[in-house]
Amino acid sequence: MKGVKKLIGPFRQVIPMTGLPLKGAIPDTELAVISEAGILIEDNKIHSIKKFSQLLEDFKQTDTEVILLEGDHVCLPGLVDAHTHICFGGSRANDYALRNSGKTYLEIAKAGGGIWDTVTQTRKATKDKLAKHTVKLAKRHFKNGTTTLEVKSGYGLSVDEELKMLYAIKEANEILPIDLIPTCLAAHMLPKDYPGSVEDYLTEIGTVIFPKLREEGLAHRIDAFIEESAFSAKQIAPYFKRAKDMGFDVTVHADQFSTGGSEVAIQFDALSADHLEASTQKEIELLAKSKVIATALPGASLGLGCNFAPARKILDAGGALAIASDHNPGSAPMGDLLTQAAILGAFEKLSNAEVLAGITFRASAALNLSDRGQLAKGYLADLAVFHTNNYAEILYNQGNLKPCMVWKNGELIFDRHKG
Ligand code: NIG
Ligand code: FE
Repeated sequence: MKGVKKLIGPFRQVIPMTGLPLKGAIPDTELAVISEAGILIEDNKIHSIKKFSQLLEDFKQTDTEVILLEGDHVCLPGLVDAHTHICFGGSRANDYALRNSGKTYLEIAKAGGGIWDTVTQTRKATKDKLAKHTVKLAKRHFKNGTTTLEVKSGYGLSVDEELKMLYAIKEANEILPIDLIPTCLAAHMLPKDYPGSVEDYLTEIGTVIFPKLREEGLAHRIDAFIEESAFSAKQIAPYFKRAKDMGFDVTVHADQFSTGGSEVAIQFDALSADHLEASTQKEIELLAKSKVIATALPGASLGLGCNFAPARKILDAGGALAIASDHNPGSAPMGDLLTQAAILGAFEKLSNAEVLAGITFRASAALNLSDRGQLAKGYLADLAVFHTNNYAEILYNQGNLKPCMVWKNGELIFDRHKG
């Protein structure tokens, strides 16, 4: 049945994240706050947001269902996590312990741990087991307010194993109430068991996997890890050219330990350059001038015990900053976007508006999705609702104030009171 209307409220505050720029710094004074608001949903979209009492009056003669909230509630757009690797087998708890005992990420990788260890574990898992594990982890994310979650392959590293991961992500997406946005990261590293050269591998995955992604609707995004331990800018150029020629969106793991990746992102009109812990003033300025969204991954800094991406400098130079969890078994095992974004804000001196923009509309721009990340007429009714009367409490609590309700496409998908 179409045209089903629901009115939710009153919210002490709705933070619609509208009227804000895609790029550059945002003082909190620019953040729109709609007080004592109601949200009228029609089917899966937002119909209107205004004073609850006004909406109640306007729609009382209709068959609108009223969902009356008691106590203090603040509503944000459902959060968008634009970079995760939650489809994997095994655990890397031992890597974490080794790193904390003094070994570096790259040393552990060279000794056979790191990404390759997860590849081995992931290859052992069946597609169904991977899908189940992805669902389990994604549930944790949506209970924490995330309603759109990007998920990468990249732990299969052969044609069949990458496709197995992408089918598992597709299966998980069909089970979950939130949207998983799949990305093919077959160019995560050269698999240690590959018999040919780097060029052979990239050509094989480009020619065999890319058409399959299209035919089976498995992904429309291609990612590559540009790093000394993975692929060089030169090696990735023909791979990205093929992806762009075939109409895929591209995104880059860039400037994590050494620079080079963000320039490739700019050269290939990537949607985003993610990581950027090693970016210098040169990369910051180039990114700021470009259309590429700079995505900070504070979870990887926390997992590796290293510096954060220069988020403040990126914003001050005029760049667009998204913030994502990078949830993965190696460098970012925590997987709590709100906590990490709040911590990044404290260390990098970001305004509430900048942090919230980074996990809502700027993150949806990094995924090329224009129907979410803001609360306004026609946008998806994806809501993260918190028990408070002041939106500033959300980041102040550094992730410890969890959403009490999460709505996706106009449906209540999580109610903390009911568990
Ligand atoms: O985004 N940097 C490369 N890839 C992942 C880590 C993957 C892993 O260590 O398993 C990242 O941090
Ligand atoms: Fe990553």
